[in-house]
Amino acid sequence: SDPSVELRKSKELFAAFPAVVAYDQRRRRGLDVVEPRDDLDYSQNFLWMTFGEEYPAEVVDAFRVSMVLYAEHSFNASTFTARVITSTESDLHSAVTGAIGALKGSLHGGANEAVMHTFNEIGIDKNESREDAAARAKAWMEAALAEKRKVMGFGHRVYKSGDSRVPSMKEALDKMIEYYGRHEMLGLYDGLEKAMAEAKDILPNLDYPAGPTYHLMGFDTDMFTPLFIASRITGWTAHIIEQRADNALIRPLSLYHGPDQREV
Ligand SMILES: CC(C)(COP(=O)(O)OP(=O)(O)OC[C@H]1O[C@@H](n2cnc3c(N)ncnc32)[C@H](O)[C@@H]1OP(=O)(O)O)[C@@H](O)C(=O)NCCC(=O)NCCS
Repeated sequence: SDPSVELRKSKELFAAFPAVVAYDQRRRRGLDVVEPRDDLDYSQNFLWMTFGEEYPAEVVDAFRVSMVLYAEHSFNASTFTARVITSTESDLHSAVTGAIGALKGSLHGGANEAVMHTFNEIGIDKNESREDAAARAKAWMEAALAEKRKVMGFGHRVYKSGDSRVPSMKEALDKMIEYYGRHEMLGLYDGLEKAMAEAKDILPNLDYPAGPTYHLMGFDTDMFTPLFIASRITGWTAHIIEQRADNALIRPLSLYHGPDQREV
């Protein structure tokens, strides 16, 4: 529980996670490990170690934006999990492991992958016009909402009038769409967003633009949530250190709703 030891462990995880993600992406493609380079910064190295090539500045910048936006976000479900585990005087690695378990669910960090599953379910056709893609996406959304489906990448527990992180991430996505010349993806994006706003007045969250951005960069969908984790390790470990410094066991009470007395 020495703060300097906790900080060292935190930095080690922050340094190790990008390599774990990059190498897992390469392993899935049967590719050899690419060593990090001292002359590259965090985002440049992450992409270099994943794809084995130096990505252009526009793409690196978009990736950097996603990493900054994902890094910390107050008392979300995974950070709260890390706080609860730390509050029992358990160790930092257990708190991070628990946080990963909470984050991977589709209502939290798993949503960036789920967004891509939605795009795939609608169907991505590189040769389709932006307008046609938007019309198909709109029709898909109307059908999904009629079936009372939860559409991932929309809505937020806290932000009821828009996620403040979305404009920066959407700007990064727009640049990637321009860079890769994939206007049909913008059609899908706009079509879903517009139909959701019209039908339920629910707005996108950060995972909505982040998912297609990672897709355009060349990441497999299964890697999107691990990318989120590689960034959020900063927020989690900062909270763990803070919790440890002034700890009290987190133990909520529940309100019982039911019969006063039950016969047994
Ligand atoms: C994030 C989330 C759990 C917040 O939920 P919440 O605060 O409980 O939202 P509410 O229950 O107040 O939502 C109000 C209504 O909108 C609906 N709604 C909310 N998000 C929705 C979504 N993504 N798709 C469809 N309907 C949605 C709810 O079903 C509810 O409908 P009802 O009144 O007919 O029952 C929810 O929006 C969601 O599941 N989103 C998808 C997962 C996601 O993208 N997670 C990443 C978050 S950063």
